[in-house]
Amino acid sequence: MTQQALFIIFGGTGDLAYRKLYPSLFRLYEKGYLKDNFAVIGTARRPWTDDHYHEVVMNAVADDGHESDRTNSELARKFASHFYYQSHNVNDTEHYVALRNLADKLDEKYDLQGNRIYYLAMAPWFFGTIAAHLKSEKLITDHGYNRLIIEKPFGRDLKTAKELNDDISAAFSEDQIYRIDHYLGKEAIQSIAALRFGNQIVSSLWNKEHIDNIQITLAESLGVEERAGYYETAGALRDMVQNHILQIISLLTMEKPSKYTASELRDRKVEALQNIKVYSKEEALQNFVRGQYGEDADHTQSDYRHEEGTDEQSQIETFVSGKLETENKTLAGVPIYVRTGKRLARKSTQINVVFKNVDTNIFDSTDADSNLLDQNVLTLYIEPDQGYRLDLNVKDGGQTYGIMPIHLDYHKTAAEKAKIPEAYEKLIHDALDGNRTNFAHWHEVAQAWRIVDVIREAWDSEKADFPNYVSGSMGPQASQDLLKRDHRNWIFDATN
Ligand SMILES: NC(=O)c1ccc[n+]([C@@H]2O[C@H](COP(=O)([O-])OP(=O)(O)OC[C@H]3O[C@@H](n4cnc5c(N)ncnc54)[C@H](OP(=O)(O)O)[C@@H]3O)[C@@H](O)[C@H]2O)c1
Repeated sequence: MTQQALFIIFGGTGDLAYRKLYPSLFRLYEKGYLKDNFAVIGTARRPWTDDHYHEVVMNAVADDGHESDRTNSELARKFASHFYYQSHNVNDTEHYVALRNLADKLDEKYDLQGNRIYYLAMAPWFFGTIAAHLKSEKLITDHGYNRLIIEKPFGRDLKTAKELNDDISAAFSEDQIYRIDHYLGKEAIQSIAALRFGNQIVSSLWNKEHIDNIQITLAESLGVEERAGYYETAGALRDMVQNHILQIISLLTMEKPSKYTASELRDRKVEALQNIKVYSKEEALQNFVRGQYGEDADHTQSDYRHEEGTDEQSQIETFVSGKLETENKTLAGVPIYVRTGKRLARKSTQINVVFKNVDTNIFDSTDADSNLLDQNVLTLYIEPDQGYRLDLNVKDGGQTYGIMPIHLDYHKTAAEKAKIPEAYEKLIHDALDGNRTNFAHWHEVAQAWRIVDVIREAWDSEKADFPNYVSGSMGPQASQDLLKRDHRNWIFDATN
């Protein structure tokens, strides 16, 4: 359905706006979700003109382009003509008056019905002041909808997240706040519910009676690149575990929603996170491992501490792995192993659901040590590969009744992947629709911090012995040992 709305993008000159927001808005325009009745105000301190802004927007669209030369396309030009630039320091109250006047003018010009989406593509310490000014300077309309989209990181811990939430809640109600976790916009993440609840063979086995353990890996092959400034204040635990990994866990462990609606899904996800055991400090140290990358085996790649912008004594972790447990009735006691890191052997996000061994092996086993058959594993490939794999045991084709493992594979083709809307496009589309299914609720964010804060505190009380893993490996030995002590192994190992 075609939408009528004014976007006000704070941080309109920034990286996120350029790489994600402008191309996503263009794709929505190409598809007709946005037509004549929309306008965008980009704001930041730089003194840009509207003409310059149009050029930037068209370049952003072109840089993202695939099929056509979008810079010169008439469509891109028409699209960019809906963009207005307002130089604005978010700390300056006067500027909000100018912003309101422009917003009201555009509302009338494009017939936007008072619908406004405020996109805070800026550092989180500005969120409170922006929200307060939007209210006090009456940018929030009393007709139409007002929606606030905010980016991660949502705080540094529960305390700062709560302060931030109190600040924005003074101007916006929870149902007006759209907290982006772009993993929730990914097709393969959204598909978890379909796989779990749309298949009897999966849903009937998705419980502690049949699942031995669940493994979640978000592996990156790149190092910190140009994000050292941010990364030095965050680290992998805050950057990846608090948000993306815990959101994935909530989708994997939630009970079945009665209907796939935003409110049902959110309630189930909140419950799921509340059921994750919050460790004591001692338990956190026993169950979580941190790492920081060193050089690669050939000494051609620098270690983390010698990257530009990092501290030479940095205690920041670039790798985390750990074991979490849910206390919900369906999966209680099933270990959930999580792992994320930079400079690992291969970029891959995947989930491996490992099923229990068959009760009794009636066949002659190929494994003389254990007389066990291979465990069935259901793998969900999230990115860059998207698809599924199921590991099964079948007869080996020989004269005697030998058993061999095979796998059934489904991978989306490049053409299929190209058709899937990019995460930001989906999420902006949802925000326009008022659909909050794939945004994080405050209760989810708060509970995720409770889980993570203890680990952070436990680590901060002890000095880490970094670097402790070779670039191009699968992380520190302690991460392998974490599973070995439970007589298990990581299923995904890109070093083999
Ligand atoms: N980039 C990504 O891919 C990405 C991914 C996930 C989350 N995020 C989050 O998104 C947010 C923005 O990230 P980013 O990478 O786009 O950052 P960025 O490139 O540093 O952009 C920051 C923006 O804030 C503006 N700004 C700074 N101080 C200002 C002030 N006092 N008044 C008005 N504008 C001001 C800057 O413009 P001027 O200098 O012209 O004022 C710029 O447009 C951050 O919270 C980040 O954590 C980014």
